[in-house]
Amino acid sequence: MDRIRITGGVPLEGSIPISGAKNAALPLMIASLLTDETLTLDNVPRLADVQQLFHILANHGVDTSFQGKRTGQDQLAGQTVDLLARAIVDTTAPYDLVSKMRASFWVIGPLLARMGEARVSLPGGCAIGTRPVDFFIEGLRALGANIEIEAGYVVAQARAGLIGNRIRLPKASVGATHTLMMAATLARGETVLENAACEPEIADLGECLIAMGAKIEGHGTSTIFIEGVPRLRGARHAVMPDRIETGTYALAVAMAGGDVTLEGASADHLEKPIELMRQAGADITVTNRGMRVRRNGHGIYAVDAETAPYPGFPTDLQAQFMALMTAGKGTSHVTETIFENRFMHVQELARLGAKISLNGQTATIEGVKTLKGAPVMATDLRASVSLVIAGLAAEGETEVSRIYHLDRGFERLEQKLSRCGAQIERVSA
Ligand code: EPZ
Repeated sequence: MDRIRITGGVPLEGSIPISGAKNAALPLMIASLLTDETLTLDNVPRLADVQQLFHILANHGVDTSFQGKRTGQDQLAGQTVDLLARAIVDTTAPYDLVSKMRASFWVIGPLLARMGEARVSLPGGCAIGTRPVDFFIEGLRALGANIEIEAGYVVAQARAGLIGNRIRLPKASVGATHTLMMAATLARGETVLENAACEPEIADLGECLIAMGAKIEGHGTSTIFIEGVPRLRGARHAVMPDRIETGTYALAVAMAGGDVTLEGASADHLEKPIELMRQAGADITVTNRGMRVRRNGHGIYAVDAETAPYPGFPTDLQAQFMALMTAGKGTSHVTETIFENRFMHVQELARLGAKISLNGQTATIEGVKTLKGAPVMATDLRASVSLVIAGLAAEGETEVSRIYHLDRGFERLEQKLSRCGAQIERVSA
């Protein structure tokens, strides 16, 4: 199995192109199930999760074709993909496909809306908490679907079509918001989605659905209005830049020191993380190319962080921020409020010499002067990249194993970092 080997202590200098957002690309690809015309997506990242979703969609009858590269295009530029679901050939999403990635469960919304039925395996994904699907089930029931759980599958039917309704989510769930918004686009009448998640990826999906002919207002806020239409058409849409990848590389620069421009990054989606990174000593400016991050000549300050739904500090940057705090001057606290088991990086960071104690949902981090390279193991996507960040600053060699987690969500991470001078390579066992 491949590992990533890092020799730490080298400041990062140069530029890193930011890829299209994984967590926007996945729901956008799923939206192709809503129409029998071609949905063209630009800036699709090359990731294992994206590949996995192509398999799942193919099983439902979606043809995908990749448009070729143009001459002079950066090798790290995003790809353009045509998705065509002319006919849905199967409304079952089987266990062996869905269990690998939670987001694939979201196909239930479009399949049910377009075909009046869906049979989707209960999901899998990163082991960061129990991650139930009760909001999806209650929401789809409110839209008139009949839903049963049978042998590990959610079996949903709405033979006469879905009917718009007022739905209040018990918690602002990203996945439930994506799914119910997609389902409601083809329902009869108006749906009002209250306490909806406000993440920028939801706004991005909303824009794409509107380009496909959907009638949506309020996407990106906590109340979304969707007036159902009889059918949606093809469209072209560019996936938004990945705010979590951006935040991750910004934290890597804050950790290792140096001066890096994150090309194509959008600072608008990172207000809270930027505020905390500045307090920690990073110098962040918005330029016409993206975002420039520097930390030269001074240390890292200890800063507290607490995760919250957007626009709060994202849970998907919690592990990376904690990695930075392991080298902070003093004591900091990082509190996780979204998932109950998202601290698996703690024991791996400890192998590098980090001093972290856990009390419930709060980690207390006592900054150390130097981390020391060691073999560590990736446990989930964001946890694994936190080990890379720590390894970039640690003395000596760090080897991260089980990096298939990283490949799920970070496009060509070693190339991007080594372009900035990092001593990082992928080694095969
Ligand atoms: C999305 O997951 C992201 N995944 C996650 O990113 C991200 O961590 C999360 O949102 C929070 O921002 C994608 O976009 C593909 P939720 P999602 O539903 O939709 C509870 C990464 O590393 N809940 O907003 O699964 C749930 O247990 C991934 O890229 C229910 O109780 O998250 C959690 O406590 C990991 N019942 C909270 O809501 C439900 O039916 C928020 O989860 C649904 C959710």
